[in-house]
Amino acid sequence: MRVLVIGSGAREHALCVALSSDPAVTALACAPGNAGTRAIAEAAPVDVADPVAVAALATGWGADLVVVGPEVPLVAGAADAVRDAGIACFGPSEQAAQIEGSKSFAKHVMAAAGVPTARSWPVGGAAELETVLDEAGAPYVVKDDGLAAGKGVVVTTDRAAAVAHGHRVLDAGGAVLVEEYLDGPEVSLFAVTDGTTVLPLVPAQDHKRRDDGDAGPNTGGMGAYAPLPWAPAELVEEVLATVLQPTVDEMRRRGEPFSGLLYAGLALTSRGVRVVEFNARFGDPETQVVLPLLETPLAGLLHAAATGTLAEHPPLRWRDGAAVTVVVAAAGYPEAPRTGDPVTGADGEGVLHAGTTVDAEGTVRSAGGRVLAVTATGADLAAARQAAYERVAAVRLAGAHWRSDIALAAVEGRITVD
Ligand code: AMP
Ligand code: GLY
Repeated sequence: MRVLVIGSGAREHALCVALSSDPAVTALACAPGNAGTRAIAEAAPVDVADPVAVAALATGWGADLVVVGPEVPLVAGAADAVRDAGIACFGPSEQAAQIEGSKSFAKHVMAAAGVPTARSWPVGGAAELETVLDEAGAPYVVKDDGLAAGKGVVVTTDRAAAVAHGHRVLDAGGAVLVEEYLDGPEVSLFAVTDGTTVLPLVPAQDHKRRDDGDAGPNTGGMGAYAPLPWAPAELVEEVLATVLQPTVDEMRRRGEPFSGLLYAGLALTSRGVRVVEFNARFGDPETQVVLPLLETPLAGLLHAAATGTLAEHPPLRWRDGAAVTVVVAAAGYPEAPRTGDPVTGADGEGVLHAGTTVDAEGTVRSAGGRVLAVTATGADLAAARQAAYERVAAVRLAGAHWRSDIALAAVEGRITVD
């Protein structure tokens, strides 16, 4: 099977690592890719936001399966264009990707499917903003309704900051949603689906804030770990029954079947599990810790989802142990990341590339805010964590920063579910 991965982050590097270890994969490409994916997959330039270009590349390269990593091409219709070209594609249609592309669409689907989520209030315009915030009360959760790469949400007890964020989104022409605040630890649970059958993967936890102790601004994600030793034993079965399957069934009922990766961002609140958000793709950086634990060959699984044959797929097999990934970010991330710095010590096992490129002299340079996702597995979380940080210590990148507490609260048993 010739497999083409679309995207250029550490999630795509992790996908390439897993795909390249599947004996069914005879050729692998990652477009546009990064300095890390180039070592194990062919590279090709492509504008991922252009569905016609993505489909043309897939056809020209002779792909049997296209795996779309990021949300931007999905929301633009890349999966539809690839399927129209007669090639199997892992990823939802443009319509179905609205579950991530529009938070209000996701809320409608959840309401129709009876899926538990935060109450939300759409804001009709600037004049309504403060009234809506006061109705919802503190802590305030103010969201850009559209795609914002994880940076469209402000959660704060500071009313002025909440008002300012709402105005910023409205002034930029966006729509604002105010939400009920959800307490409790967060879980990212991925499910592979062909639109009917739903296979959940192992739960993971992301660390969204920039700094240790969950301080600082929200980012795309600073690190992750899996599995979750503190999660209730029945969590996956419960979320499958109350969130994932009803959502997939509702999408099919609407005539917009969702196939690909349904990512449920959950809060385990004192009143039960609530959906914080859906994404229409593998999470980044959670994928970097989920895939190393998956023993089932990945290409066969994704191909089954892309071709509607997941019901015949054998049950997933998982490795024992745990995985931890630590994101090494560029100076200035997330506000204004500096790029172009040389990166060394980044070619060892488990060092997944996110924002990197190779210059004309062959030097690897930073090319994005999140530069590397340094990943390790171990017999347990503590061992995986230690191994990941040992690998981080070998990386050289001027101005780099990373959190030193990825998976620490879980290792120390400080996470509790009411
Ligand atoms: P989102 O872009 O919707 O995933 O939100 C980004 C992050 O903001 C989430 O991972 C949560 O940490 C936080 N967040 C979003 N919605 C809520 C909410 N209703 N209550 C508390 N925290 C939230
Ligand atoms: N880790 C957050 C996301 O992928 O959206």
